[in-house]
Amino acid sequence: MTGTIDRKEHWQGVYERKHEDEVSWYQARPETSLRLIANTGLGREAAIIDAGAGASRLVDYLLDSGYADITVLDIADTALGKARERLGERAGQVDWIIADLLAWRPRRPYDIWHDRAVFHFLTQAEERRRYVEVLKSALKPGGHVIIATFAPDGPEKCSGLPVMRHSPESIAAELGAGFKLLETADEHHVTPAGKVQHFNYARLKRVE
Ligand SMILES: C[S@@+](CC[C@H](N)C(=O)[O-])C[C@H]1O[C@@H](n2cnc3c(N)ncnc32)[C@H](O)[C@@H]1O
Repeated sequence: MTGTIDRKEHWQGVYERKHEDEVSWYQARPETSLRLIANTGLGREAAIIDAGAGASRLVDYLLDSGYADITVLDIADTALGKARERLGERAGQVDWIIADLLAWRPRRPYDIWHDRAVFHFLTQAEERRRYVEVLKSALKPGGHVIIATFAPDGPEKCSGLPVMRHSPESIAAELGAGFKLLETADEHHVTPAGKVQHFNYARLKRVE
């Protein structure tokens, strides 16, 4: 998968064909993400972006917890449409962005960047370099990054696409010296079909 159009077509199609709770990455409650966001110690006014959020329920729980500055970004408007519909009136409290992360130019800085199961699709070094560039242009100094990928013993594919599996340390190495690894977490995610997928989470702080 090389360009924005291929990527967009793939993901648009996935969310057209499947309900939000039929995709393998569906979580009724994203416990690990919520815990790591709380562990940043930042207040409810923190600006949070869920990058490649799909139709994730993370935004619902962040709103429930009183977070007031949430941005949800995805390449597929079919995914964001599902989340907006689910949230009803509360969708108006969220900033929705349809964009290819790798071509996106952030218009404002964020305190927390969250990505579950997006970075692992970047199998080319050039794509990962671009991701880190965009991440840096979106994150405040001292801001936190939470990235979750399939672990080295996790599946080799996600949504039919090849992935690059990571340890928290390899995620930190990809981000480079400007980030300090503060916390790691393991998740054994059970898909709607009952398969177990091993995820690694890394929480890092921007130090440069
Ligand atoms: C495996 S899903 C994970 C969704 C969500 N983070 C979760 O944990 O439920 C990957 C998501 O990343 C989005 N995505 C993939 N590549 C992207 C890109 N280059 N820019 C923006 N979103 C992207 C897809 O549309 C999809 O919603």
